[in-house]
Amino acid sequence: MGNVAVIGSQWGDEGKGKIVDWLSSRADVVVRFQGGHNAGHTLVIDGVEYKLSLLPSGIVRGGKLSIIGNGVVVDPWHLLKEIDGIRAKGIEVNPANLMLAENATLILPVHQAADRALEAAREDAKAGSKIGTTGRGIGPAYEDKVARRAIRVCDLQHPEMLKEKIERLMLHHNALLKGLGADTIDPDKVYDDLMQISGSILQYAGVVWKRLEEARVKGERVLFEGAQGIMLDVDHGTYPYVTSSNTVSASAASGSGVGPRSVNYVLGITKAYTTRVGTGPFPTEQQNDVGEYMGQRGKEFGTVTGRKRRCGWFDAVLVRQAVKVGGIDGIALTKLDVLDGLDELKVCVGYELNGERIQHYPASQLHQAAVKPIYETLAGWKESTRGARSWADLPAAAVKYVRRIEELIEAPVTLLSTSPEREDTILMQDPFLAA
Ligand code: IMP
Repeated sequence: MGNVAVIGSQWGDEGKGKIVDWLSSRADVVVRFQGGHNAGHTLVIDGVEYKLSLLPSGIVRGGKLSIIGNGVVVDPWHLLKEIDGIRAKGIEVNPANLMLAENATLILPVHQAADRALEAAREDAKAGSKIGTTGRGIGPAYEDKVARRAIRVCDLQHPEMLKEKIERLMLHHNALLKGLGADTIDPDKVYDDLMQISGSILQYAGVVWKRLEEARVKGERVLFEGAQGIMLDVDHGTYPYVTSSNTVSASAASGSGVGPRSVNYVLGITKAYTTRVGTGPFPTEQQNDVGEYMGQRGKEFGTVTGRKRRCGWFDAVLVRQAVKVGGIDGIALTKLDVLDGLDELKVCVGYELNGERIQHYPASQLHQAAVKPIYETLAGWKESTRGARSWADLPAAAVKYVRRIEELIEAPVTLLSTSPEREDTILMQDPFLAA
């Protein structure tokens, strides 16, 4: 028995919340390893709703350690707000059950200002060229990390050095903000604001790689909880319409401080159709009644920004690619019930590009926008699959749809989710036992 990583295999919002919650209830340690508070999901446990975006899902369950790894960009004010929010619901959060990597990068208000100003500049340069970010400062914070000027959690321990670092950082950002016609930010205010909360943040700071090594020695089960999805990966996704981190499973290792062999099973979460928020290519998008039907039935509105999600047919080419680049061992297929009632279902099995058939999603931005999906049509079903708990509960056409998806994406469906309720799941293989 080993460790499991859970990642999204499309453009995020695949319904990770329920699956991650179920797996985290069986783990000893739950680790977030990339992204930030651009992610978001709602957990319902014993009728109580918890909204999480930065905290690992394990936090709402007793007796386990939740870790925010070095690969995450952390807005410290948001973190404290989120902790207060779940404390108000009776959840205990303290340094014994939450650890924040001392080498994680901080998101500061200037990153949010830069995120907004850069989006506005993109739109001004060319209408419709915005990325459609969540506006949370994720991209600019990762930029600072790679440019080696970021403020990290451990810097809060050293006020003198922190002051200098902030001054240097703001020199860079204020020049940028000025150039973009946005208001500049006073470095002293950034420093004072950070110093006010530094004690509250530092109490959670720890040496994550060491704690994970301890977990390995003790044989504790670790769940690595990914955010977003592979098509939003900064290398493998629909660049530049992506987030600024690597969302593939390899990130679980680098974003927390373990070797690649510590990730023993990769579960990809896959929606039975496709959605995306924000701009960027989406070959199987249905801007018609079918897309509306999926959006309404699937309640496709963003958890973080409330934006309406774009909807379309299942794209098996994209998901097969995600299976390969993400090292996905098995799929949790979610929201099958949203498709109930459709006469027929289309699945993308290839693309046409410049008159030729291709079997992968190309990297070039122009090619990604130009590909035309080639569809295979399958029969729909009229019966409800909502709440099904065994294969025998599913209509034959639904079983056929799932089996065909497995063939096309070259990965087994090991878990099928048929409603937001935890029990409404058909489990073929327990990822922890397979790990
Ligand atoms: P950013 O991560 O805020 O920089 O946004 C970059 C792109 O990723 C935008 O298209 C966002 O809509 C998308 N994105 C970021 N986080 C999520 C998520 O958790 N689910 C779905 N899309 C996301």
